[in-house]
Amino acid sequence: MQALDLLLNRVSVGRLLDPAPDAAQREVLFRAALRAPDHGQLRPWRFLTVEGEARVQLGELFASALLAGNPEAKPEALDKARGMPLRAPLLVVAIARLSEHPKVPQQEQLLSAACAAHGLLLAAQAQGFGAVWRTGELASDAHVLAGLGLAANERIVGFVYLGSFEGARRTPAPLAVADFVGSWPS
Ligand SMILES: Cc1cc2nc3c(=O)[nH]c(=O)nc-3n(C[C@H](O)[C@H](O)[C@H](O)COP(=O)(O)O)c2cc1C
Repeated sequence: MQALDLLLNRVSVGRLLDPAPDAAQREVLFRAALRAPDHGQLRPWRFLTVEGEARVQLGELFASALLAGNPEAKPEALDKARGMPLRAPLLVVAIARLSEHPKVPQQEQLLSAACAAHGLLLAAQAQGFGAVWRTGELASDAHVLAGLGLAANERIVGFVYLGSFEGARRTPAPLAVADFVGSWPS
């Protein structure tokens, strides 16, 4: 796949199925993520893969976080939370590792980690897989962060869901560049 074709046509895929990327394909995914622009070469990121039965465990963690935040949570809401990680055969938790740096504010470190997550999406599509970046309230829930073993200086930038998909890839809706780009001074 040509680079520009990929950049111009990246789309998310919500319905993801087996097979997940294999070991060699994952290596490519993560190498692409590691090429994110990175002020100061801080490498302000790390990634966790969640697959197989671990997705059930993650669903339980989501449900228990929901319940901890709202003891009145309805059983349907808890079941929905449990089912979330089952929407793809492989999840990658993209984590920003924020540090104090004299020249690189934490905001920039967070942006780098987000670019790394975008690298995962692009490399997934380039290899014929589908992917979607999800967050939701649980991505910043203290119970979830603790359950995933994040340190105090770490944040989840996204859960990247990955897998195969059926049918043709969606064509993205066209946007008019002129609606978003101006020159300065105008
Ligand atoms: C930081 C971030 C968090 C997101 N969280 C969610 C989410 O929780 N649920 C969701 O459906 N889409 C979420 N999205 C949006 C999808 O990943 C996707 O970009 C959007 O549906 C548009 O589809 P497209 O990527 O094909 O243009 C998030 C995107 C970003 C960048």
